[in-house]
Amino acid sequence: MEQSVQWLFARQSGYDERQYDMIKTRCVKADEQTIREAGKILQEGGLVAFPTETVYGLGANALDEAAAVRTYGAKGRPSDNPLIVHIADIESLPVVARHISEEAMKLADRFWPGPLTMIFQKSDVVPYGTTGGLDTVAVRMPEHQVALELIRAAGGFVSAPSANTSGRPSPTCSGHVMDDLDGRIEMVLDGGDVSIGVESTIVDMTVLPPAILRPGAITKEMLEQTIGRVTVDPGIVRSDVHPKAPGMKYRHYAPKAPMVIVSGEPGDVVRAVNCQAERDRKAGRRTGVIASSETASSYQADIVLVIGTRGDEAAIARHLYGLLRQMDAEDVQAIYSESFSGEGLGTAIMNRLGKAAGHQIVEAVDLCGEEI
Ligand code: TXA
Ligand code: MG
Repeated sequence: MEQSVQWLFARQSGYDERQYDMIKTRCVKADEQTIREAGKILQEGGLVAFPTETVYGLGANALDEAAAVRTYGAKGRPSDNPLIVHIADIESLPVVARHISEEAMKLADRFWPGPLTMIFQKSDVVPYGTTGGLDTVAVRMPEHQVALELIRAAGGFVSAPSANTSGRPSPTCSGHVMDDLDGRIEMVLDGGDVSIGVESTIVDMTVLPPAILRPGAITKEMLEQTIGRVTVDPGIVRSDVHPKAPGMKYRHYAPKAPMVIVSGEPGDVVRAVNCQAERDRKAGRRTGVIASSETASSYQADIVLVIGTRGDEAAIARHLYGLLRQMDAEDVQAIYSESFSGEGLGTAIMNRLGKAAGHQIVEAVDLCGEEI
């Protein structure tokens, strides 16, 4: 299906890879004037990247099939991977979604605007181009003034995947967006660094009990306090089960170098990583380490990047994608990362780290054999 849908879109839109390098991308500071201009670009079928509290999004008019096609083209994203429709007012929800349950309204009341995306049956105004051919639609109301103003200026419905090239870490500042999409979109609204750094929690409201399809800053515990039991899609915690959110099956958030997450007691992790880095060095490989501030100074590797202190998960989440991009820029050939607690926001951190590492998680004691 993936190929034929893409082929059909390509034919319908006259999409041609060569036309991209002709676009001049303007990266401008977000203000009243530039947001108004950006809204006009979206209304005319163009693409504008903008800040949200989670990550930067690549905005398009969600009700315009051709704009969805351009979005997939600019990201190099498979067109069976649906987009999230961003709204600015609760009145917009029933325009795009059907069968909105009482539980969904409770979650919207408590967590919108905020880093929560809910899946509903789609209404007829949402084109299949936006939903990747699905009868369901993902909806989110972001908590960022620039995002909310842009959505209103664009007419109320903005589809926005993360504004990265497909397969790269999501962008947490406008520079990341320019690195990936310069020449492929009309405008980037610069609103500084994002505050959360990992994408929204996705909850499927079309099933009972509702199911978390992607962990984020709104945790399972927070959802359950509001609506009672929710389940977790097994596909997001195990690498051998097919995830239900189409996008979660792709190797996402990937740095260029192979990455291994090393778990265990901090002292064991340091010894194992240093031992492995020494082997890499002998083999001529440049190594990078992602470390907490508690242990960073103990590593001997070519590059050691500090992700934050273990006591501050919010900081770890905020720094994660930028660090993965920095590893690419440093051109390392092997990356070792410390492991973090899988509780609360830690669930989202370990989910993204795990995907970046292609689920290679090893115990420190197994990494370097007898030598540690
Ligand atoms: O925080 C966020 O959600 C960011 C910002 C820009 O709002 N957006 C974002 O979009 O992360 P994206 O496209 O990178 O990820 C959307 C995820 C994908 O995994 C996709 O498969 C899933 O949402 N999704 C979208 N619509 C869906 C649907 N109808 N059913 C199941 N999964 C869906
Ligand atoms: Mg994404």
